[in-house]
Amino acid sequence: MRFLVMNGPNINLLGLREPGIYGSESYADLLQKIEAHAKAIGVETGFFQSNHEGALVDAIQAARGEYDGIVINPAAYTHTSIAILDALKAVALPAVEVHISDVREREEFRRISYAGMACEASFIGLGFDGYLRGLDFLKERLASGKKA
Ligand code: DQA
Repeated sequence: MRFLVMNGPNINLLGLREPGIYGSESYADLLQKIEAHAKAIGVETGFFQSNHEGALVDAIQAARGEYDGIVINPAAYTHTSIAILDALKAVALPAVEVHISDVREREEFRRISYAGMACEASFIGLGFDGYLRGLDFLKERLASGKKA
């Protein structure tokens, strides 16, 4: 099983950006954690991060035929991007949404998630662990052969 772990704008600045909200560990630390977990549960991962909405749409489209599922943290585009929602729907790969912070407890504008409307599960406010739980979910979902 191969899963694409996608991150949107400013996630590359983890560790520097608002550490009180996102923690002091870097994007490289995040990838390391995800890779170690993927190895432990026996799945493969690819990574993609971009600060550009269209690049994220391109990467979702390119995932078709290459990956069995998508773990996505669209970051700020979560709350604005119908293009990312449509791309996820178009490729119809099983997808889960991750947010490091608890977006439900922050500003009102963070409560809407367009991408989440195309996702089978959301892992919110669990820090980096949300990505690991997302991989667990996709692995089980595919192993059980459940249809979306
Ligand atoms: C985020 C939450 C978003 O509201 C914010 O714009 C981000 C990160 C999170 O992981 O908590 O950039 O997706």
